[in-house]
Amino acid sequence: MLHILFFFLFALSLSTSPSTSNAAVNDFCVANLKKADGPSGYPCITPSKVTASDFVFSGLGVPGNTTNIIKAAVTPSFVAQFPAVNGLGLSLARLDLAPGGVIPMHTHPAASEILFVVHGKITAGFISSAANSVYVKTLKKGEVMVFPQGLLHFQINAGMHPALAVVSFNSPNPGLQILDFALFGNNLASTLVEQTTFLDDAQVKKLKGILGGTG
Ligand SMILES: *[C@@H]1O[C@H](CO)[C@@H](O)[C@H](O)[C@H]1NC(C)=O
Repeated sequence: MLHILFFFLFALSLSTSPSTSNAAVNDFCVANLKKADGPSGYPCITPSKVTASDFVFSGLGVPGNTTNIIKAAVTPSFVAQFPAVNGLGLSLARLDLAPGGVIPMHTHPAASEILFVVHGKITAGFISSAANSVYVKTLKKGEVMVFPQGLLHFQINAGMHPALAVVSFNSPNPGLQILDFALFGNNLASTLVEQTTFLDDAQVKKLKGILGGTG
């Protein structure tokens, strides 16, 4: 009885195996970054040219340089740095926050984010779009917080020592728009920035000066 069942399963597997003319399953699609990115990601490099090293990214082992205006560094392993995540719907980044460091208010248009505190203390929060409700917490080592897709959020070092977090995204290319740079790091005429932000000319000029804007 049992071997009849096995024979049946064997016959079934033969009848359903794809012929060589059918496309094989795409197990992976390591990005060909020389081609243009599209809505479903980059085209793949030829699978026979892919090696184990393509699936490994070593850049997150190195602390980012926090000698900058925000005293913080984001080290991404998005598709641009780690082409193997192309098409897989995920990616990672490393956040280094020196004492006083901040990842200013920002959004990732294409992904939700989950943050894991490796060491240090981080005050993190986001603002809902529906009611501008604020969700903010000070996280300690080992804690995790999630930031829903597209919402403005921030991270601040809440301790006296460097803080380190690893963040994960449900997109290989989450995108990043930092609000301060979007508002004041551009060449939109100051008069228009003033009208759209309700800030006065001196404030806008000062912020443009700090954040690299002109106009
Ligand atoms: C970190 O960045 C600062 C400012 O750009 C630079 O002066 C410094 O050399 C950098 N440090 C390292 C270790 O790369």
